[in-house]
Amino acid sequence: MSLPSVVLFAATFASAVWAQFPTAQCGPGFDWNKNSLGQDPCTVGSKLGAFCRGLAQYSFPPLNASEWYLPPDTSVSGDVMCDCNTVAYSLSMACISCQNGTVYSWPQWIPQCTTISITVYPADVAQGTAVPHWAYVNVTSLPGTIYSDSVAMSVGRDPEEFPSTNTNTTGSSTDPKKNVGAIVGGVFGSLILLAILAVAAFLYRRYCRRQQAGDPYKQSPMAHEPSTISAPLLLYDPSDPSTFPQSPSDPVRYSAHGAYSGVPEI
Ligand SMILES: *[C@@H]1O[C@H](CO)[C@@H](O)[C@H](O)[C@H]1NC(C)=O
Ligand SMILES: *[C@@H]1O[C@H](CO)[C@@H](O)[C@H](O)[C@H]1NC(C)=O
Ligand SMILES: *[C@@H]1O[C@H](CO)[C@@H](O)[C@H](O)[C@H]1NC(C)=O
Ligand SMILES: *[C@@H]1O[C@H](CO)[C@@H](O)[C@H](O)[C@H]1NC(C)=O
Repeated sequence: MSLPSVVLFAATFASAVWAQFPTAQCGPGFDWNKNSLGQDPCTVGSKLGAFCRGLAQYSFPPLNASEWYLPPDTSVSGDVMCDCNTVAYSLSMACISCQNGTVYSWPQWIPQCTTISITVYPADVAQGTAVPHWAYVNVTSLPGTIYSDSVAMSVGRDPEEFPSTNTNTTGSSTDPKKNVGAIVGGVFGSLILLAILAVAAFLYRRYCRRQQAGDPYKQSPMAHEPSTISAPLLLYDPSDPSTFPQSPSDPVRYSAHGAYSGVPEI
């Protein structure tokens, strides 16, 4: 089969199918490709594709004899991430094959793929499904580099791949220590943030008060850099009036050039 010579229909992987589009179903004689939940590869692939793309509605539509699913299209959001891997490829080909369609090779699947994954599905398995073991076959090592029902059948279903966070009642009781730690960390972090805000507010109010005092040197950008204002650094000599604070609450001094010097002029 020469792929370009045949018309490709648009109802595909590449165009996420929305709303009431039905999901394809395998014909008779394909029970071997179902997962332990009784789902055929069209359903498994649809669920994976929807979850990977964050879409509620995404499915492999039913095909007739002259249709098949398009390979990944890089202009379609999610295709590279969700379909440029052998697992999505194998599920798609299995779904084509079980509808009496004609499968095509892995090299024909990936011309637009910028990154590919072999035997790895790069996203988590969707809730409510399980991926049969045969979907993880390394198709690049098969004759013709093409999906094969007979290989898949011999590889079989088990072990299946399940969602990493199985919604299982026992799974919901996660380590309570972690949660408490997160809460304590959150409270502690908030307190630190409040302290930083309080210091910032204090420095800002001090700065504003100084602005109102009308010191001409305060206009210098260097002069009102709050981080340079450090009262304990001030060394002032009670016997030298030139080192006296300008006001009791404002001991910071500035040089004649407007830049804060931090030490009194002698
Ligand atoms: C296959 O389906 C498409 C659209 O769904 C239709 O245009 C085409 O005629 C069908 N082909 C056959 C052989 O049924
Ligand atoms: C595939 O073809 C077989 C017989 O050739 C038929 O029994 C079966 O219903 C077909 N499956 C689909 C999905 O059309
Ligand atoms: C898949 O098969 C090819 C060809 O045999 C091999 O080079 C490659 O390392 C295999 N990849 C994995 C992930 O098994
Ligand atoms: C739930 O998880 C537990 C342990 O992780 C496992 O033993 C049990 O079989 C799971 N139940 C279901 C229904 O998946």
